[in-house]
Amino acid sequence: MAILVLGGAGYIGSHTVYELIEAGREVIVADNLQTGFRKAVHPKARFYELDIRHRAALDELFEKENVEGVIHFAASSQVGESMTDPLKYYDNNLCGTACLLQAMVAHGVDKIVFSSTAAVYGEPERVPILESDRTEPTNCYGETKLAMEKMMSWTARAHGLRYVALRYFNACGAHPDGLIGEAHSPETHLIPLILQVPNGQRKSISVFGTDYDTRDGSCIRDYIHVSDLARAHILALDYLTEGGESDVFNLGNGVGFSVREMIDVARSVTGHPIPAVEEARRAGDPAVLIASGKKAAEVLGWKPVYTRVEDIVSDAWRWHSGHPHGFE
Ligand code: UFG
Repeated sequence: MAILVLGGAGYIGSHTVYELIEAGREVIVADNLQTGFRKAVHPKARFYELDIRHRAALDELFEKENVEGVIHFAASSQVGESMTDPLKYYDNNLCGTACLLQAMVAHGVDKIVFSSTAAVYGEPERVPILESDRTEPTNCYGETKLAMEKMMSWTARAHGLRYVALRYFNACGAHPDGLIGEAHSPETHLIPLILQVPNGQRKSISVFGTDYDTRDGSCIRDYIHVSDLARAHILALDYLTEGGESDVFNLGNGVGFSVREMIDVARSVTGHPIPAVEEARRAGDPAVLIASGKKAAEVLGWKPVYTRVEDIVSDAWRWHSGHPHGFE
């Protein structure tokens, strides 16, 4: 029996496929390659180029392969773009997931683990954030991810399917072997942008907002290594296989670092001065986002291995310095 990874050519998906294969699992990857890369797919995974909104292609795959469970990463994930092109997010994230769930129900596949996000919380009522805290997304990306969670919940009630939603905080780092890593176009995430400076691709890094009510005025985030995220997906799938109930989990280290602190970490990892330029706040950024990872620890037995941001930034730097143009 195989595990089907949708969006397995993307950043977190490709790392999860590596973890699964390193754990001896049989893996099928499906990806439309709109933002993912064929080269990011582990050579031992069977690959299908398909879009999850294409029901006939999904049916064909489920008929041909013996799928025991699904891990679903296939979604659009840029906050800024979701505000200027919301219908793209409704179409890809919600129509895509509806089509996938219909195909799963039709083919009797009853377990799914999928990517959700800290963006479902919006401006948090407190930190660390618990899964039971208020969910009030402030951007369309978070809104579609919350709607995906609800879609799963109603489908679970009606059709006996079980799901785990994993709400990632700030995914970063790269596989420690340096073969795969983060490659977004355009890049909007802090760590890869910082590392473009020592890579000679930009002159400075912008600090978006220096007047937040935080220890140094810049935003605080919970940075979690992509390999730790990847392992959580395997634990979640095993939890469902052992009969676990549908549930939602935060994935973070439970510790926050400011933008300025992350720039300092990158300076010490790379040995480059990395000039920083203070700029206005970016619209929609909450001041502080820190996860409580307690529930994932208790229920899934998940414990992040990468608790030092220096190690996370080192892995990211190994990848970016060795692949300045990503997978191109
Ligand atoms: N930042 C800068 N300069 C930059 C880029 C980012 O100061 O050049 C700041 C941002 O303002 C923010 C922090 O660095 O305060 C982290 O920004 P990222 O864009 O790397 O990550 P976000 O926290 O905005 O986004 C993450 C996930 C999203 C998710 C969101 C939830 O990447 O998928 O958390 O709020 F939706």
